[in-house]
Amino acid sequence: GVAAKIAPSMLSSDFANLASEAHRMLKDGADWLHMDIMDGHFVPNLTLGAPVIQSLRKHTEAYLDCHLMVTNPLDYVEPLAKAGASGFTFHVEVSKDNWQELVQRIKSKGMTPGVALKPGTPIEEVFPLVEGEIHVDMVLVMTVEPGFGGQKFMPETMDKVRTLRKKYPSLDIEVDGGLGPSTIDIAASAGANCIVAGSSVFGSPEPAKVISVLRTSVEE
Ligand code: DX5
Ligand code: ZN
Repeated sequence: GVAAKIAPSMLSSDFANLASEAHRMLKDGADWLHMDIMDGHFVPNLTLGAPVIQSLRKHTEAYLDCHLMVTNPLDYVEPLAKAGASGFTFHVEVSKDNWQELVQRIKSKGMTPGVALKPGTPIEEVFPLVEGEIHVDMVLVMTVEPGFGGQKFMPETMDKVRTLRKKYPSLDIEVDGGLGPSTIDIAASAGANCIVAGSSVFGSPEPAKVISVLRTSVEE
């Protein structure tokens, strides 16, 4: 199968100690660090942007998996590239007209493009972004409404993951929202291989164990 990538969502970390929180996750087995970037407009919450990515980059060489919950992702390409972002995943709902330009710019800046979709967005909307000569490398299927950590996993989103996995056997498929030991098996068996987990990892006294359970489920 496709390699497992376990990505703790730093949204659930102690932002005042971001570097040590990141180091702790990497020591506990994380592959990627998931960075939730919000603008208070696409979603009703505000988190962090390029300055924080730039600060964190000085403390780690880890893959920074940036999830852009913003209305104008194009405006973030240049600043995030300069800051040291690794992945740049934008939402399809706000990129219908300019996704090709967006993908090209992300790639030209050395970042890995991904596309995300909200629970209510039909999966067909991302097919052109996966199939074209200009294409994304990952699809993020949101398993909660974007905006906040600690919400309940929506199992009805798994039809989208199954459809994608059937159509694209080697695609990176990420799931984000409500993932933890009690929901990972349904997501992994649907075909997800990149697993974002915030509250289940940071809320545990033994994050290494949670990360290992997530990985084992994907690799089984
Ligand atoms: C939600 C964010 C998620 C969030 C996941 O809008 O995209 O990355 O931090 O948190 P949990 O795992 O707690 O649902
Ligand atoms: Zn996210």
